[in-house]
Amino acid sequence: MAVDRGTFGRLGFVLAAVGSAIGLGNIWKFPYITYANEGGSFVLVYLIAVALIGAPIMLAEVMIGRRTQANPVAAFATLGAGVPGGRWWRIAGGLGVITGFVLLSYYAVIAGWTVFYFGKGIGWSVRGFDLEGPALSEYFGGFLANGPLQILFHAIFIALTVGVVMLGVKAGIERTTKLLMPVLGVILLLLLINSFSTPGFGEALRFLFHVGPLDAGAALEAVGHAFFTLSLGMGAMVTYGSYMARNSSIPRASLAICVLDTLVALCACIVMFSIIFSVPEAERATTFQRSATILFTTLPHMFYGMAFGKILAPLFYILVAFAALTSTISILEVVVSYLVDVRGWARQKAAPAVGVAVFLLGIPCALSLGASPGLSGWRPLGAVATGVFDTFDYTVSNWLLPIGGLLTAIFAGWLLSSKLEREELEQGHGRFPLFGVWKFALRFVGPIAILWILYAVVQGRSFA
Ligand code: TRP
Repeated sequence: MAVDRGTFGRLGFVLAAVGSAIGLGNIWKFPYITYANEGGSFVLVYLIAVALIGAPIMLAEVMIGRRTQANPVAAFATLGAGVPGGRWWRIAGGLGVITGFVLLSYYAVIAGWTVFYFGKGIGWSVRGFDLEGPALSEYFGGFLANGPLQILFHAIFIALTVGVVMLGVKAGIERTTKLLMPVLGVILLLLLINSFSTPGFGEALRFLFHVGPLDAGAALEAVGHAFFTLSLGMGAMVTYGSYMARNSSIPRASLAICVLDTLVALCACIVMFSIIFSVPEAERATTFQRSATILFTTLPHMFYGMAFGKILAPLFYILVAFAALTSTISILEVVVSYLVDVRGWARQKAAPAVGVAVFLLGIPCALSLGASPGLSGWRPLGAVATGVFDTFDYTVSNWLLPIGGLLTAIFAGWLLSSKLEREELEQGHGRFPLFGVWKFALRFVGPIAILWILYAVVQGRSFA
């Protein structure tokens, strides 16, 4: 079974992994949960969580992948052979594959919105945007309730993702991310420069970096989001790590991923809050009632009310679409790599087959945002989540990702031999003086924080 699995170039790995990390989590979710939690302290806890919990687990996942050069299931099985639990550890990898499957089904629905609004933005820019027109929130609500349209854009996004993954690790994933990530960087920079001159810029910074009181629930949400935004807890970084060249440095690449992901999240906040704080106080309150939909209800109004808005609005949506695409690629690749390595499927068959299955699972998600009252009101878990979409996101964000992260931390922190780990981390890097710090974070800080999250979830606190 010695098929050539493919290998990323040095820069290729970093860009692909950064592409996975930067996504809707940075541009859609982070700004709105930051807004909902009143910025400042929430951002601070998030930064600490990325540094003390996220970064060590990132290192562990990439290390497990590159050591074994295998998909998560085989990777955990191989390394598990020498530790307590043995081959049962493949369940940790299998959990990742299942998580990826569910995550992709609803993530692609939101990703589809960004494509729709990109088209919409071009239309507004060309034909003109009626600033006095009907509220965009109504329009957005109508869009959500339009079943066929939701399914169509969900399908478009899955098809794009499948197309890239079918082309393979180098010609598909590496080439796409090498093209899209720099474009994304330039667009974001343009938007950032533009925000310097908006009247709300100063207030946006103050909002983001002031330090005030913070309740425990918000702290938990910050920790949970650190996992989501770094693509941890479901084997995505194990899978990408398995394609990493042996002469690349795992610590340096991991640092780059964490730093770039965080910078983009902060920039997205600055861009969005600058626009938002430029609106007079009185109008702001109503605007924010539905903070989760800011991106699609508030921003168009604001874009078209400002200089260069005609150019910036469509640019912004294509930016979000690119960010989402490089993330969905990584999620699909986890499932595909499992089928290719373990089940012996051809990539050209595995990618479309998984795509169709994910598309089908995504249909009830897409219809649960208003199109189908039954699906929209479905509450299999009680009050914590309403509708298929919410239920999936709740299960993945609050349970599956933290559990996956916990298993990885226990596996690499307590079970794997330090000799093997040091060898892998120093391969392509040289001496790694922070090894002890890393191990401590993995053994104690990560697991304790994750158990705390799971305990909070059991208590009924949702931070999806
Ligand atoms: N990190 C991406 C985001 O912020 C989402 C994502 C991609 C992800 N791959 C993942 C989340 C794997 C968890 C696990 O949007």
